[in-house]
Amino acid sequence: MNDIALDTPASRAALGRRAVQASARLWFLIAALGHGIFLIYILAVFFPPVASHGLAGLDGLHLPSGFREGDALGNLAAVSHVLLAALVIGGGPLQLIPGVRQRFPIFHRWLGRAYLFAAMLSALGGLYMTWTRSPIGDLLSKAGISIDAILILVFGAMALRSALARRFDLHRRWAMRLFLAASAVWFFRVGLMAWVTLTGGIGIDFETFTGPFLYVLGFAQYLLPLAMLEWYFRAHRSSDQGMQLAFSITLLLLTGVMSIGIGTATMGMWLPRM
Ligand code: HEM
Repeated sequence: MNDIALDTPASRAALGRRAVQASARLWFLIAALGHGIFLIYILAVFFPPVASHGLAGLDGLHLPSGFREGDALGNLAAVSHVLLAALVIGGGPLQLIPGVRQRFPIFHRWLGRAYLFAAMLSALGGLYMTWTRSPIGDLLSKAGISIDAILILVFGAMALRSALARRFDLHRRWAMRLFLAASAVWFFRVGLMAWVTLTGGIGIDFETFTGPFLYVLGFAQYLLPLAMLEWYFRAHRSSDQGMQLAFSITLLLLTGVMSIGIGTATMGMWLPRM
């Protein structure tokens, strides 16, 4: 009798929603851990040389353009870009933790302002470097990352506008979109390393850092996370258990790939440079 009473459309929808929430929480936990490792890399590699030698500290770092004599604006864009990256990569996950938002609202507001400023300025600096000095990639890969910069600017403006209008439900959605667009460079590194681990690097010319896989990844680094986020919003409020399960399984699979990427990026890319 009890079993029959429990097997109602409402109880099935609740089960589906729990699966959506559990998979999203696991994804966030692992993504936050991966952001933490990238943050440690940024703090360890870029901050000490810039603190002791200023702009010239960029020389010899793992930057394709690094320090260029006479290019004051380009050097300033590069140094602010890698220093602000710490705020973007460290601040993003912190802003999305409900407990932090609820218990420390003033901290959330100030970190939010700093995060927004850092993400938007990093995007502008990144655009400037991409089109004036970066030797990496070709036109298609530059177009891919430039669209990400535009998305960061648009999502940042929308997150700010909805917060000022005190429309917090809307604000939460724009802030989540901003987080994924601003972390696209992290998804790129993790996606690249997962692909190299799983396939040996099919579709990548490592000499020129071009190739079909890199073109796809150049757009997928933000389009895939953003598409999953829109699906999450739908799955969360839907009563269609099939769709909720399909979402949860897809997210779990992607979380598995992301974990492989975090592991190999840490061991092969970040730790050796620290
Ligand atoms: C807002 C989020 C972003 C973060 C957190 C970020 C982070 C970083 C980091 C840490 C580096 C140093 C390379 C490394 O050690 O891995 C870097 C380099 C670079 N980034 Fe970004 N980035 C962001 C957005 C962008 C965007 C949107 C663009 C282009 C439109 C861009 C273009 C570049 C370029 C060209 C370099 C190489 C700089 C040089 O060699 O002088 N970045 N970024």
